[in-house]
Amino acid sequence: MFRIEVLVSLLFGLFTLTSGWGRPLQSSGAYGTLTCNGKPAKNVLVKLYDHDTFTTDDKMAETKTNLTGFFEISGKAREFTTINPELNIYHDCNDGIKPCLRVITLKINSSYVNFGEEAKNLYPVGTLELAVKYPGEKRECI
Ligand SMILES: *[C@@H]1O[C@H](CO)[C@@H](O)[C@H](O)[C@H]1NC(C)=O
Ligand SMILES: *[C@@H]1O[C@H](CO)[C@@H](O)[C@H](O)[C@H]1NC(C)=O
Repeated sequence: MFRIEVLVSLLFGLFTLTSGWGRPLQSSGAYGTLTCNGKPAKNVLVKLYDHDTFTTDDKMAETKTNLTGFFEISGKAREFTTINPELNIYHDCNDGIKPCLRVITLKINSSYVNFGEEAKNLYPVGTLELAVKYPGEKRECI
């Protein structure tokens, strides 16, 4: 017969897995300037993800560059282990009339992750020229 203790611990396990309870809240972020052929790349979509090896990545935040190509982004996620923040940049620089967007992914070093609600130390991306083709660049239709 099924014992109540087993049922309780199964339900509790399910609860912790789905609710994020017990997984420490962590924060991270980045800032930088995007250019396209030396000019400010404005209105470019930037998303921050927590990359998961076995499940789909969790989106932590999204923003767009301003008129001078500047962006600042930060977000939080719960994970048992250290989160793996990644920055995705979706752009059309030197892409002509081709459909979809060029996507660059930058990994954020774990030294820019801290516990808590607020990212304390944003990763300085610097100035990134989008005309350049970066290793691992992809295309995505969103
Ligand atoms: C874009 O944001 C940066 C940093 O906040 C700021 O210095 C710059 O003036 C902004 N540009 C515009 C056009 O608002
Ligand atoms: C992360 O940054 C620290 C400090 O700059 C450096 O020592 C470490 O090697 C970096 N880790 C990775 C995985 O790049």
